[in-house]
Amino acid sequence: MTENGKIKVVIIDDCIDTIRHIKALLEFSEKTIQVVGAAYGGKEGVKLCQKLKPDIVLMDVNMPDMDGLTATNLITSSLPDVGVIIMSVQSEKEYLKKAMLAGAREYLIKPFSSDELVSSITNAFEVQNRRKHSLKSADQVIQTKVITVFSTKGGVGKTTIATNLAVALARNTRKKVCLLDLDLQFGDVAVMMNLIVKNTIYDLVRDINNIDSDLANDYLTMHFSGVSVLPAPLKPEYAEYIDNRHVERILALLNGNFHYVIVDVPAAFQDIVLTALDSSEKILVVSTLDLPAIKNIKVGLNIMENLRYKDKISLILNKANEQYGVNYSEFEETVGYPIWESIPEDSSTVITSANKGIPFVMSRVDTRVARAVMRMADRLHSGSESPAVEKKAAVWKVFHF
Ligand SMILES: Nc1ncnc2c1ncn2[C@@H]1O[C@H](COP(=O)(O)OP(=O)(O)OP(=O)(O)O)[C@@H](O)[C@H]1O
Ligand SMILES: [Mg+2]
Repeated sequence: MTENGKIKVVIIDDCIDTIRHIKALLEFSEKTIQVVGAAYGGKEGVKLCQKLKPDIVLMDVNMPDMDGLTATNLITSSLPDVGVIIMSVQSEKEYLKKAMLAGAREYLIKPFSSDELVSSITNAFEVQNRRKHSLKSADQVIQTKVITVFSTKGGVGKTTIATNLAVALARNTRKKVCLLDLDLQFGDVAVMMNLIVKNTIYDLVRDINNIDSDLANDYLTMHFSGVSVLPAPLKPEYAEYIDNRHVERILALLNGNFHYVIVDVPAAFQDIVLTALDSSEKILVVSTLDLPAIKNIKVGLNIMENLRYKDKISLILNKANEQYGVNYSEFEETVGYPIWESIPEDSSTVITSANKGIPFVMSRVDTRVARAVMRMADRLHSGSESPAVEKKAAVWKVFHF
């Protein structure tokens, strides 16, 4: 704002008559709005904005040296407090969407009246102001931590852990948590959480070129625990429309909006899974104590080391029960990783919760299985890295793969 409290406006248009005309339209509002400068092209306009730091920019679209969308992009990325209003003769929806994605707050279709111009400037200024304050009150930009729950063996409990972990994080840390179901063909996060699904990842991908991170929120389904869920497609055949570039883009859209993004994936090194693993700060590799699982996990961990994931891996033992004839030390020795967290076997709690659609970290907090997942959430949140498993002396049995 100017020193005397007026909204500072810069006009960028290659046509001198338009600039004059706009100034004339604003004459009657000179008590609240002041044109502090004008530029006759995109490049000059960007420089002028950097110098004058206006509140609002009125931006033409077609200019010979630099078009209005590029100039808008440059201004909004370097001066986030500036509100850009696009002035266009093109009223096509697609074009206006592009302008909004470039960072424009409002658009005006030429020719416009004095009233339209003034209300558009006032609106854009208010929106910018609210945004500035809400950013300030949030105090800081959210740092997003992506955590993928992975295994090279199916049925070991990835989805059980991913859903309960997301809920435990949301409830115990009061942070914003998103749960992303990348098991595109047979994802069952929505069923396990008993969600009424409106949109799935398939709907988001269909609209992916036209949305920004605010709009992406509309595609998420809120679970009553506070976790925002992006469910897998409703039909397995839709999976083929979703590729790793979409997943990259979705993670980029979620970035900054959530403290934690928990990703559930199928048991395979598919492209989309690798994209999730690449973007993850932490990979929870889940195994059980049966020999087929242990063999697969060992092979999988080797591959993951070759892909340079070693530093992000934490090994989770699920359905833990030493009565199955393999003790924990043997298991650690064989796979070459310490058990970071061990989740006990408790079919009655786990299956009943899944069938009711209520995560056990909400409905059965007093069980050992729920306590293990809640402890895992606390440790992920506090950044505690050392393994939490107490090793028990047990019969030593050697096996090799
Ligand atoms: N700690 C546990 N104790 C007992 N049963 C469990 C435990 N964790 C998971 N289960 C059961 O194991 C089965 C598989 O679990 P889940 O669907 O979570 O595994 P998954 O790895 O996601 O499987 P998929 O590879 O099919 O996606 C389910 O019947 C679930 O109830
Ligand atoms: Mg699963």
